[in-house]
Amino acid sequence: MTKIQIDIVLLCHETKNIMIMYKSILRPWLFRMDAEKIHGQIVALLHVYRHFPPVKCLLRAFYRPKATPFQWRNLTFANRVGLSAGFDKEANCFDELNDLGFGFLEVGTVTPEKVAGNPFPRIFRLPEDHALVSRTGFNNPGLDVIKRRLEQKSGSYVLGVNINKNPSSEGEQAVADFLRLYKELHPHVGYFTLNWGSVDVALMKQVLQGLAAFRVEQNIHVPLLLKLPADITEEGMNDVIDCTRLYRVDGVIATGPTMERSYLKGYSPAQLQKIGSGGISGRGIGERSLKAVSYLRAHAGKSLLIVGAGGIITPADARRMLDAGANLIQIYSSFIYEGPGIVKKMIQEIK
Ligand SMILES: Cc1cc2nc3c(=O)[nH]c(=O)nc-3n(C[C@H](O)[C@H](O)[C@H](O)COP(=O)(O)O)c2cc1C
Repeated sequence: MTKIQIDIVLLCHETKNIMIMYKSILRPWLFRMDAEKIHGQIVALLHVYRHFPPVKCLLRAFYRPKATPFQWRNLTFANRVGLSAGFDKEANCFDELNDLGFGFLEVGTVTPEKVAGNPFPRIFRLPEDHALVSRTGFNNPGLDVIKRRLEQKSGSYVLGVNINKNPSSEGEQAVADFLRLYKELHPHVGYFTLNWGSVDVALMKQVLQGLAAFRVEQNIHVPLLLKLPADITEEGMNDVIDCTRLYRVDGVIATGPTMERSYLKGYSPAQLQKIGSGGISGRGIGERSLKAVSYLRAHAGKSLLIVGAGGIITPADARRMLDAGANLIQIYSSFIYEGPGIVKKMIQEIK
């Protein structure tokens, strides 16, 4: 690095207030625009950023945390804080997001064919509750486009892919969709995630059976994780634990969004009704994900990889998740509400 670059890095370190600046200046400005529109502009900006190596170097130096890597089987996670699925749905900017200090990233959800998703607007912010409402409907450009983008990945960090069947696929076709995604993408990814609850449980078991057979036949063992909805019951988690044993599922992500709105305190029922349906992310998940992680750790044993997710907003939340038994954590809403500086803050808290 040149002296000027070093000076700027030091200045940023000294400033410490980068998160306060984000929350008091940048966030109010960003939040004036439609959530998905501004997301598209940030992705476009990251595409420009990609062509300026000195800026990349600076950003990396600023955001790269001092952390002990977490080793799990043959995967080396640079640190324990990852980015959840849904932010880089189109696998458009994972290399750039990696510069912000994440220990791992998850792209998708990806389906075999392109999916347009639900009509706009479909993402809503609830700043009073540090929450988001989303009903995107798994919009993504489809397997072929995603595969081409994953082939361009640079660096050895852990990149997971969240996969799902085409919306119209049922029965055997749904199983074939998941198998196709696994077969085509496995050389490019660190792990796969399947959303438990996005297809009915009987079909999910057929899918897991099909994947288990394929992995044994081909001797391909890219880890499989099941992502659980926040509203899952203890009975549902017992079923998941049985599946992990029966079908050699390697880990779980607990949890995704909730459909329950009782944790939202800053909005009247009429305001929430006006927004309409959608899963609740962020603080609105309440303690559900933490309880799920505690339950899973207590009942699934030590060998299951548990990624704590859902409602982790502050560094203290991250600490609690790990204390409850998670090996790793993932964030989404916190990244939106606290800004990119939150990744480093969390890592400092949990190391
Ligand atoms: C706008 C938006 C889009 C999302 N898209 C996906 C998705 O495509 N696949 C998925 O598995 N989860 C998706 N999620 C869920 C997140 O990955 C995450 O599980 C959820 O937001 C809870 O984490 P958080 O409380 O840290 O936000 C999405 C969430 C939001 C807010």
